[in-house]
Amino acid sequence: MKTRNTNKLLVLIMLLVLGGCNQPQEKKITSNDIAIIPQPKKIELLKGQFLISGSTKVIVSNNDDKSIADQLVHRFKTVAGFDMEISQKVEGSNTIQFVNDKNLGKEEYRLEVLEDKALITAGNTGGFLYGVETLFQLLPPEIKGNKQVDKDWILPTVKIEDGPRFKHRGLMLDLSRHFFDKTYLLNTLDRMVMHKLNVLHLHLVDDQGWRIEIKKYPLLTKKGAWRVDQENAPWNGRAENDPNEKGTYGGFLSQEDIKEIIAYGQERNIEIIPEIEMPAHVSSAIAAYPELSCFDTPIGVPSGGLWPITDIYCAGKEHTFSFLEDVLDEVMGLFPSKYIHIGGDEATKTNWKKCPHCQKRIKEEDLKDVDELQSYFVKRIEKYINSKGRTLIGWDEILEGGLAPKATVMSWRGTAGGIEAAEKGHDVIMTPESHCYFNFYQGPQDEEPLAFNAYLPLNKVYGFDPVTENMSVDEAKHVLGGQANLWSEYINTPKDSEYMLYPRLSAMAEALWSTKEIRDWEDFARRLKKQFVRYDQLNINYAKSAFLVTALASADLAKKEVAIALDNEFPNSDIRYVMGNEPFADEKVIRYKEQITVSETTVLQASLYEEGQRVGKIFTDTIKFHKAFAKEITLDPLYSKSYKGVGEGTLVNVVRGSKNFHDGQWQGWLEDEVEINIDLGDTQKVDEVIVGTLENQGAGIYFPTSVVVYGSENGKDFKKIDELKRDYAINGGADLLDMKLNFDETTIRYIKIKITNLGTSPKGGGTWLFLDEIVIN
Ligand code: ACM
Ligand code: ZN
Repeated sequence: MKTRNTNKLLVLIMLLVLGGCNQPQEKKITSNDIAIIPQPKKIELLKGQFLISGSTKVIVSNNDDKSIADQLVHRFKTVAGFDMEISQKVEGSNTIQFVNDKNLGKEEYRLEVLEDKALITAGNTGGFLYGVETLFQLLPPEIKGNKQVDKDWILPTVKIEDGPRFKHRGLMLDLSRHFFDKTYLLNTLDRMVMHKLNVLHLHLVDDQGWRIEIKKYPLLTKKGAWRVDQENAPWNGRAENDPNEKGTYGGFLSQEDIKEIIAYGQERNIEIIPEIEMPAHVSSAIAAYPELSCFDTPIGVPSGGLWPITDIYCAGKEHTFSFLEDVLDEVMGLFPSKYIHIGGDEATKTNWKKCPHCQKRIKEEDLKDVDELQSYFVKRIEKYINSKGRTLIGWDEILEGGLAPKATVMSWRGTAGGIEAAEKGHDVIMTPESHCYFNFYQGPQDEEPLAFNAYLPLNKVYGFDPVTENMSVDEAKHVLGGQANLWSEYINTPKDSEYMLYPRLSAMAEALWSTKEIRDWEDFARRLKKQFVRYDQLNINYAKSAFLVTALASADLAKKEVAIALDNEFPNSDIRYVMGNEPFADEKVIRYKEQITVSETTVLQASLYEEGQRVGKIFTDTIKFHKAFAKEITLDPLYSKSYKGVGEGTLVNVVRGSKNFHDGQWQGWLEDEVEINIDLGDTQKVDEVIVGTLENQGAGIYFPTSVVVYGSENGKDFKKIDELKRDYAINGGADLLDMKLNFDETTIRYIKIKITNLGTSPKGGGTWLFLDEIVIN
C-alpha cells in the first residue's frame, strides 16, 4: 500500500514537472502502466526511460549467470530481431548489467533502471532469473511472444527491491489420471518462472497410471502406464477392467525425459519433487506386480474413478519394502531434490485387517491397529529416505498413527494437519483444498467445463495465506510455503490443464511471493489485465471466468416479486444489462447500480465493462413466472435438513438452481417417493407441468425415474392426468433436466405430483432426488 501511494505522489510530481515542458517523444509512464505479478516488495518509479536497442550490451561477469543472460538475449532476438552482445567487461552506458552481491538472499534481487542502463543485482541464479523476469514485465507484453514486432522496447526508470515471502512456492501436476508429456512439462517450467514459482511437484504414481520408468521393474510402465481406453465414458462410471485386457491409453516419462526436465528446471531455479505414492493409490503398480498386494489378486489398471481404495501395498510382506527401496533408489538417483514425496493419503486398510502378513507384522512390531501399521510403513520408508540424505514429505494422513520423526507434512484436508505438524515442530507445506485445489470450478458451474464439484474462484486463491491466524510465531516458522494442486481426473489435454491453471496461478504466485502488506486485490485485478496480454502472447488457454457476471435471485413470495443482484469477482466492477428480448447492444445497456426487481417473465442479459468496452461473455438469465408462483405447496415427506433450498416455497419461487447442487436453490430427498401438493388458489386451465431436477451421480444425486401428475377441482377427488418415465443412464457430469409433461388442457385447482427416486445406486447405497422448481403452465 505504502509503495503505491508513494508511486502516486511521484507520478503527480512528475506530471507537474513535465507539465510545462515540451517532450513530445516521451510517452509518460505512470504507476498504472506498471503491472508486475507477483507484486514486488518495493517499487519506486522515477521519471525517465531507457530504450533498449540492438546495440544494448548485456554485461555478465560471472559465468554461472551466462545462461540467464542467454535467455534474455534470445527473447530480444525473437521479438525485436536484436543481436545483443554479451560481454564480461563492465562497460558504462547502454547496458543491461548483472551485478553480483552475495549479501542478497537466494532469490532476492534489485532492479535499477537508469536512463542509460539497467542493473540487475543478485547473489544467486534465482535472483538474476527473477530480476530478468521483472525487467520483462516492465516492457510491452509482446516481449513474451514468439514473433518479431515493431515496438519501442522502453523500460521506465525504476528502483525495485524484491524477494519472496515463502521459500516453497509450488505447483503440483497429476500425471497419473491423465498423462502429460515432457513438452508440456518444459513449457510449464517456463511459465512457472514467469510466476516466480520454484517447486514443481510431479504426482507420478496413482491408481490410473504409473508414469515413471523404473529399470528394475519394467512392468510398472509396460503394464502399469496403460489402461483400457474408456475415455468416452464418464470418469466415475468406467467399468472395472479385466486384468488380461491390454491397456492402450496412457504414457510415461522415460528416465531420459526426467533428466531433461530436471536440468531444465535447475536452469530456472525450480526444484522438481517426485511423488511416489504409497501405500494406497497404487493400483497401477499392483496391476503390474500383484504380489505387492495382500492377497496377490490380479487386477487391471483402473480406467477411471475408484473408491474406496482397497487394493494397496501389503505392509506385512518384506518384498513390498525391498521393491519400494529399489524404486526409491532409482528415483533418488534421478531427482536431486531435497524432498521425496511418498503420498500416504486415502488408504482404506480393509485388506490389512484380514491379511495374515499384515496381522503378523502388527503383532511382531507391537502395533495397536492398522493406523499404527501405516505409521510403521511410513516411518520405515522415512528411515530409508533419510539414510540417503533426503527428507520425506507426505500428505497429512501420515499424522495418523504417529508422525515419522523428520517428515514434512503437506496439509490438504484443510490446514489442521499442517497446524498439528507445526506444533510438533515439523515443517509443513500448506495446500488446503479450500484455496489450493485448481481442479475445482473457477466460475459459475453452468458456464464452465466439467470439473470437480467444488468452487475455487480467483479471488479466493488470492486470499490464500499459508500461515493461519492462530499460529504462533514459532509454528509459522515451520510453514515453508504453499502450492497449487491440479488433479487431472477431468483434465484430458494440455489446453484443459492451462485453463485450470491460469490465471489462478497468478493469484497463487502473489499469495506465496508478496508480503501480506502489499497484497491488494483491487490492484491485482488491474495488473491481471496486462498479465492476460502476456498469456495471449504465450498462447496460453487461460480462463476468463473471473469476467463472468453472476446473478443471485431471491423471491419475495408475499410481494410476489423476484429481486436479482448482479455481481462479479472484481471490486467496483462496471456491470451493464438489458431487459426484455432486445439484443444486447452497447447503446442499449443500463449501468447496474442496485438489484433489479421483476414481477413478470423477464429475460435479463448482462456483461462486464471496462473503460466503456465490453469484456467477458454475455450472461443471460430468464426468470419465468408461472401459475404456481407463490402458491401454497406441501411436501410429503419434507426435504432433508441438509438440502432445504431456501425453505418453504422453494419449488414455487421461480428461482432456478444451477448445476452446483450447493447453490442453495435445491431441495433434496433420500426417500423413494415424494408427493407434492399445490393449490393454485382458484380453478385454472393447465396443460403443462415441469419438474426441475438435477443429476450428479458422483455425488449420489440421480434424476427421478418417474413423475405422475394428478388434478382435482375440489381437492378431494383426484384424477391422473399424465405420467412420464425415465430410465437410469450413466452420466459423468452434473446436468440439469426439466422433466416436462404436456397434456390436453384441463381445468383444475389442486395438483398432486408423485416423483419417484431411483432408490439404489448402481454402486450400492441410497440415491438423492433433487428438485428446484415445479412449473405449472
Ligand atoms: C489428496 O487430494 N488426496 C491429497
Ligand atoms: Zn498384507
